[in-house]
Amino acid sequence: EKGGFEHFMMKEIHEQPRAILDTLNSKLKDGKIDLSDVGLSNEDIKRISHIYIVACGSAYHTGVVTQYVMEDLARVPVRVELASEFRYRRPILDKDDLVIVVSQSGETADTLAGLRLAKEQGVKTLGIVNVVGSSIAREADNVFYTLAGPEISVATTKAYSAQLIAGYLLSIEFAKVREHITEKQYFEYIEELKSIPEKINRIIEDKERIQWFAAKQANAKDIFFVGRGIDYAVCLEGSLKLKEISYIHSEAYAAGELKHGTISLIEDNILVIGSLTQPDLFEKTVSNMVECKSRGASLMGLTTFGNYSIEDTADFVVYVPKTDPHFAASLAVVPLQLLGYYVSVARGLDVDKPRNLAKSVTVE
Ligand code: F6R
Repeated sequence: EKGGFEHFMMKEIHEQPRAILDTLNSKLKDGKIDLSDVGLSNEDIKRISHIYIVACGSAYHTGVVTQYVMEDLARVPVRVELASEFRYRRPILDKDDLVIVVSQSGETADTLAGLRLAKEQGVKTLGIVNVVGSSIAREADNVFYTLAGPEISVATTKAYSAQLIAGYLLSIEFAKVREHITEKQYFEYIEELKSIPEKINRIIEDKERIQWFAAKQANAKDIFFVGRGIDYAVCLEGSLKLKEISYIHSEAYAAGELKHGTISLIEDNILVIGSLTQPDLFEKTVSNMVECKSRGASLMGLTTFGNYSIEDTADFVVYVPKTDPHFAASLAVVPLQLLGYYVSVARGLDVDKPRNLAKSVTVE
């Protein structure tokens, strides 16, 4: 059942290219994005004034990525909300808003409550859901199914990756319908998405390098993740993956926030992982990493092939293939999933069933 892998999590990491391809192909017709099965018409898309993305945990983290991509490409204001907060704070929703709830299981109690709240207020809702026939799939006005297949490991990987693809497809289509990108850009973005599965395969092929590095972190007390923009969103997920299955304390910080308090936690030999896939922000994050290094931190850099100057600063570097920066989270997250996995294995823990956690959180 684990297909020759030691754990479901590793099997599911390897299934990501397939999950992405299936999700992509389900929405591509004659080389174009077709959302007709989702039920969003061009008129619906044009009318949207704000988007709220409501979710928990890793699904929330994909919402943070989608916020960056959607706002940049389609120029629609997006707010990402933790469902457990959204449901209790009387959000001010307008009839032209769209509430997107993201959930692998389709059963997460807080996310479902957020969906119901939006519906009560007469706002259009869209579920990005992996489990067919789940509560959220049944109750949302529109459903975008991710086709990740059943996910067994408590720590999500392939469903997260498929949720990102859903966010990209919506962003590209909204950008086209709202006339913020050219026809040429539209097709280039679609081509770029098609190349992601192969690029993920290349990252996974080199997993032993991450395994070697992870084994050395087995006794770490704290690990920090820093990045800006989409890299910050990747850090949120990298940090969650690590802490939930390795039980090592870890935090993700927007790199520019370090000097507003957190940098006082940096001590000798603490590992700081910088994610640097966004060309515009590369130098900014490097300088934050240098500041950590001068306080004794050891540094891992996660960046794109070609950014070799990172080796002037970081002690260990992981390169991912080049892609359009909007989609870089799909690549950068994979080494961080592998890192969490291998640290957990090195510590002899139950990778697929971490303590105190359930796969589907049906109580608040
Ligand atoms: C972390 C993880 C959780 C889920 C969260 C939401 O690896 O899996 O954080 O992402 O519990 O679950 P769904 O997507 O089922 O609503």
